[in-house]
Amino acid sequence: MAGFSLSDNELACDGVPLSAIAESAGTPTYVYSAATLRARYRAIDDAFAGYPHRLHYALKANSAFALVRLLGKAGSAVDANSIWEIELARRAGFDPADIVFTGVGKSDEELECAVPLGLRAINVESAGELARVEAIATRRGVAARVAIRINPDIDARSHPHISTGLRINKFGVPVDAAREMAVSIANRPSLRLVAIHVHVGSQITTLEPLRRAAAFLAGTARELAGSGIQLEYLDAGGGLGVAYDDAPTVAPEEYVRALVSEIRPTGLPIVVEPGRSIVGPAAVLLARVVDLKPRDAGSTFAVLDAGMTELLRPALYNAFHRIEPVKPRAAANHLYELVGPVCESSDVVGRDRSLPALEQGDLVAIRDAGAYGSAMASNYNRRPLPAEVLVDEGGWRVIRRRQTVDDMLALESD
Ligand code: LLP
Repeated sequence: MAGFSLSDNELACDGVPLSAIAESAGTPTYVYSAATLRARYRAIDDAFAGYPHRLHYALKANSAFALVRLLGKAGSAVDANSIWEIELARRAGFDPADIVFTGVGKSDEELECAVPLGLRAINVESAGELARVEAIATRRGVAARVAIRINPDIDARSHPHISTGLRINKFGVPVDAAREMAVSIANRPSLRLVAIHVHVGSQITTLEPLRRAAAFLAGTARELAGSGIQLEYLDAGGGLGVAYDDAPTVAPEEYVRALVSEIRPTGLPIVVEPGRSIVGPAAVLLARVVDLKPRDAGSTFAVLDAGMTELLRPALYNAFHRIEPVKPRAAANHLYELVGPVCESSDVVGRDRSLPALEQGDLVAIRDAGAYGSAMASNYNRRPLPAEVLVDEGGWRVIRRRQTVDDMLALESD
């Protein structure tokens, strides 16, 4: 089975012992399983079972060049959230027609570059943004393909920081304004409305909000068709959650079945923008215990060489990631507070974890770290961005070398 599992009492990635990778690449290091990435891409893609669709992998989850290339070869298109993600995707071989440009706050400079490219769609977030796209397209004598991101006022019931579909969130155009916008686009020659788009949140672990969002898209498409507005496709965004802990989640097949059953009556192709559900479980963050110190009578601090600079999610969202010793000792479990090396009390990677006894120098694997892990890493405390390794077909290679102080200072002058 692809992924991370114990082999000879040692955690391995697709058969490659993580200790061998740490030995050579050092720590902290992200380790990705190519087989898992491909399998997770295919699970969503296959679930459409012939219904017209396209996966636009959300680059924001992880845009490591090698991973983006790999997903491109697997057949993926992309969702880019900035002109820089668009540029990266193009360098990775994606055609403009394989790229949707999402995101609130696209600057004039970004739109000036994006409009002439002929992207699959610019997913506009407001009337102001639409007017800016139109002005650029008019000046350049092109018709810009746009999708309206609608805020459907649906509660994704995920963490408040990553819920996006409520009226109080900054994202999208309110429903009534979106209808008027769609009608107005028909009379604006520099704009072509190709789709409507919703994305109600991330790490969604129940089917209901995802189904409601799809039903909303289908209902709105029908209404627009009634006003003579024919769309090319419907963009249901991303958001499918993954199993960080033992709580139930939605299987890709169940998710896709719900999307297709809601949207099939419109006959329109479906675009989805999955990020986390493809890349999240495909990586661990490999770290070393640099120190152990007593915390209270019952527990010990295990200070790791990875923390909020490498994986911000626990500090930012109180997110849970399983943590396992790479070579679990046959010893009684003990309670650990696993913390990072950064000068912040919030730099906790795992709270109150019961683990087989750890010793200084041990390796641990922080699981399901592929999405919004390396992508959100920082240089706080002048910590270098970690190395990244891809395990593929029995071998492994460094896909991003560890950053150095020279790399950081290359951008600076006195
Ligand atoms: N499409 C749009 C318009 C989005 O805003 C996002 C994510 C996605 C697709 C991909 O969603 P996914 O399938 O990955 O749930 N940093 C947070 C997650 C932020 C998500 C932002 N938008 C975290 O670490 O949980």
